Amino acid sequence: MSNPPQALVIGAGSAIATSLIVSLLDKGYAVTAVSRKPAKQLSSKELTWHETEYTDQAIAHICKTIASQDISFSNIFICNGLLHTQEVMPEKQINQFSSESFLTVLSANTLTPMLWISHLPKLLTKGIKTEVVIFSARVGSIGDNRLGGWYSYRASKAALNMLVKTSAIELKRRFKQAQFILFHPGTTQSPLSKPFTQGSNNKTVFTPEFVATQLLSILEQGPQSDTCLYLDWQGKAIDW
Ligand SMILES: NC(=O)c1ccc[n+]([C@@H]2O[C@H](COP(=O)([O-])OP(=O)(O)OC[C@H]3O[C@@H](n4cnc5c(N)ncnc54)[C@H](OP(=O)(O)O)[C@@H]3O)[C@@H](O)[C@H]2O)c1
Repeated sequence: MSNPPQALVIGAGSAIATSLIVSLLDKGYAVTAVSRKPAKQLSSKELTWHETEYTDQAIAHICKTIASQDISFSNIFICNGLLHTQEVMPEKQINQFSSESFLTVLSANTLTPMLWISHLPKLLTKGIKTEVVIFSARVGSIGDNRLGGWYSYRASKAALNMLVKTSAIELKRRFKQAQFILFHPGTTQSPLSKPFTQGSNNKTVFTPEFVATQLLSILEQGPQSDTCLYLDWQGKAIDW
């Protein structure tokens, strides 16, 4: 029997990540999951769960541990993202901007994913095709910004997009078969979107299961050749 394809899901406690893991396991993948949260009860022997903090040291340690297992990942998903907390809400107006909120959002949406990316050379395998999907958002597009507002979230995802594209240029020199995709799932039911989807009856809100299916079908359609793609849930390119 051939070995199962391998996927790494980072930020595995996310609602969308959870559906992604279920779909990957259904498709016969072995999944390595990383989260601050305890393991999801998904009772599969093909799921390995690592619980960790997201400090520089903890991320370096967990990446070293996973790399030591010599797994050739065909898919890596980085799902971290934060829109609000008890103290932080997206700004509607410029006078709501504060350094504390900005740094909280930037830390979760830009810094944490970039720390994971900085360890990718340990996790990618030369000669093996690996699709690296980083969850972004359409509001990170500068060209598409028509409504304004949400200063910190927009800026954090725009900065993420730049960091991922820059990393892709460097990493593709060493790992020619790596494909980098910044992905916008569309508005999806999750703790992140909850305050903004309740009571809205004219906005389409996807289920995490739908988004997971869409994403995996986009990946299955490959091959994709650009250094770094910025795609929505339909697989359509988003203006940078
Ligand atoms: N839902 C939407 O409508 C929507 C729309 C556009 C883009 N997105 C993006 O899709 C991705 C997944 O979101 P979701 O909707 O599934 O949200 P979710 O269920 O609220 O998941 C939140 C994710 O962010 C991580 N996280 C939370 N606080 C963090 C912090 N302080 N530092 C670092 N990581 C933190 C969590 O990691 P743990 O596993 O460790 O908890 C988890 O991976 C995010 O990048 C989000 O920006 C979502």
